[in-house]
Amino acid sequence: MIIEAKNIVTKFGNKIIHNGVSFHIKKGEIYGLLGGSGSGKTTLLREMILLQKPTQGEMIVLGKNISKLTTQEENELRLRWGVLFQFGALFTSITVLENVMLPLKEYTKLPDFFIEELAFLKLQMVGLSKESAYLYPSQLSGGMKKRAALARALVLDPEVLFLDEPTSGLDPSSARAFDKLILQLREFLDITIVIVTHDKDTIANVLDRFIILGDSKVQAEGSLENLKKTNLKLIEQFLE
Ligand SMILES: Nc1ncnc2c1ncn2[C@@H]1O[C@H](COP(=O)(O)OP(=O)(O)OP(=O)(O)O)[C@@H](O)[C@H]1O
Ligand SMILES: [Mg+2]
Repeated sequence: MIIEAKNIVTKFGNKIIHNGVSFHIKKGEIYGLLGGSGSGKTTLLREMILLQKPTQGEMIVLGKNISKLTTQEENELRLRWGVLFQFGALFTSITVLENVMLPLKEYTKLPDFFIEELAFLKLQMVGLSKESAYLYPSQLSGGMKKRAALARALVLDPEVLFLDEPTSGLDPSSARAFDKLILQLREFLDITIVIVTHDKDTIANVLDRFIILGDSKVQAEGSLENLKKTNLKLIEQFLE
């Protein structure tokens, strides 16, 4: 098991965001966190990557109970995943290449020429050309920005990749190309992928299993195929 959430409760003040949320994510899965706006998807993701502490419950990520870690263990764990945030987050004052090189510069002692090679490799992996490496984020299309951020998330060879709304804001053809890329990455990299999404095509074509959050609880859990058999009404409502 790569991630296990057990009875997660999250409160902001007296507002209850999660009230006993449980699920598990297996190695190699592409797992979806679904739910309406404000249902707590991003918050749940932030809890998995140590940016937010659940109020109650247990979150086990890569075999570690995240509430019981020393600072050093936390820092070690942070290097084992990559994250693509909901609202991009490339540094705008440096080039795409420099953005992708950044984590390697910060966390490894590799020589610069080698870091550059690795960064180019990751850019190639996400479908960005050598020329685009020298552009600044403002010179990229939305789809290219997402790819660049993805290359940066992959540069430390993570075991888990977290993607928050990766296709939102993209035109349909870029969105479908990004879906394809996600599937390819799983195939080639032996990686587990957790995706927050409300994109119907992504849900149908990319996710192995997912949860639907609503009313602070897990309203449904499983594959689209199984949920259509057992919970068709909810699925239809949700995908409407
Ligand atoms: N740090 C915080 N302090 C207070 N309230 C917060 C905080 N973070 C999130 N919330 C609230 O928690 C709720 C869930 O937010 P979250 O961002 O997890 O939703 P979401 O499902 O990702 O929504 P969206 O689809 O719009 O991205 C929202 O009502 C939000 O205002
Ligand atoms: Mg969100």
